[in-house]
Amino acid sequence: MNLPASVRIVEVGPRDGLQNEPRAVPTATKVELIERLAAAGLRTIESTAFVSPKWVPQMADHAEVMRGIRRAPGVRYPVLVPNMKGFEAAAAAGVDEIAVFAAASEAFSKTNINCSIDESLERFAPVIEAARARDIRVRGYISCVAGCPYEGEVAPATVARIARELYAMGCYEISLGDTIGVGTPAGIRAVIEACAAEVPIEQLAVHLHDTYGQAIANVYAALQMGISVVDSAVAGLGGCPYARGASGNVATEDVVYLLNGLGIETGVDLEAVFEAGQFICAALGREPASKVALAMAAKRRGGRC
Ligand code: HMG
Ligand code: MG
Repeated sequence: MNLPASVRIVEVGPRDGLQNEPRAVPTATKVELIERLAAAGLRTIESTAFVSPKWVPQMADHAEVMRGIRRAPGVRYPVLVPNMKGFEAAAAAGVDEIAVFAAASEAFSKTNINCSIDESLERFAPVIEAARARDIRVRGYISCVAGCPYEGEVAPATVARIARELYAMGCYEISLGDTIGVGTPAGIRAVIEACAAEVPIEQLAVHLHDTYGQAIANVYAALQMGISVVDSAVAGLGGCPYARGASGNVATEDVVYLLNGLGIETGVDLEAVFEAGQFICAALGREPASKVALAMAAKRRGGRC
């Protein structure tokens, strides 16, 4: 079996994890979460989104979050950017990396960013150009790669076409998002295979939500295909405001536990991520969605596992 020797985890908890929270999360809590995640060894931490506060109120404090973080050496703090307005604000906040986000379904694109897929790519072109001119790295997301909440099935060829365009436009990495967590390993493999024919496999990442409990199985399937970049959210937080019913991302604790078991290097300290998860869950007043975190908490309380 050909598994990668090391995996880069892209922690998306502070952004994807918190964007859908019904109650406002204080900026200081977000900043502390990001700093705890960096201290746990995560080297890429998606920190906020420079999107419209009318669309996603929870990310309205994007500039304050970026100002508040004490940036650790060797850690990147990407942010979501949907258009030039978002880019200019992100650049003014001194970001080192941005992510543009397209979708593989027209209906989701319209609902999420109020334009068609092709219009979104046209909108991203000047953003990517401006970012690259300032040495700001650009990542590209594609949502709904395994299914759309409005249109149902999504063809891998559609995903591959968008992946090719984003890569050609200058995205250094394309993250394949199963936004509503409907994918199973066979489907995820088919999407990766189609995209890997257009973009080098080293430049592909997976971003898996866990609505149907398939995310960790899908991570494993992706690793077997040669994927070595995995997005995850501490405590399994997350969801998209424009994909109702979709649950959180695959939990960082679960991914690290899996990778530790497989002998794959991540540089991430499981205990410290668990503590960061305990911190944010206490702040949000909820239990973690991570099975590993629940087991670790039970063990601490004197349970058996
Ligand atoms: P629009 O309404 O078409 O934009 O929204 P507009 O250009 O007509 O502007 C409307 C208002 O928003 C104006 O303000 C603009 O100034 C303002 P007004 O004049 O009414 O006072 N505006 C902005 N303000 C701050 N920052 C900006 C910005 N742009 C415009 N960047 C827009 C289009 C893209 C702005 C909107 O649809 C939007 O912000 N969408 C973001 C949705 C979002 O963040 N979704 C969640 C992230 S995606 C996700 O979770 C999936 C992912 O995790 C992968 C996966 O799971 O698959 C990435
Ligand atoms: Mg997501």
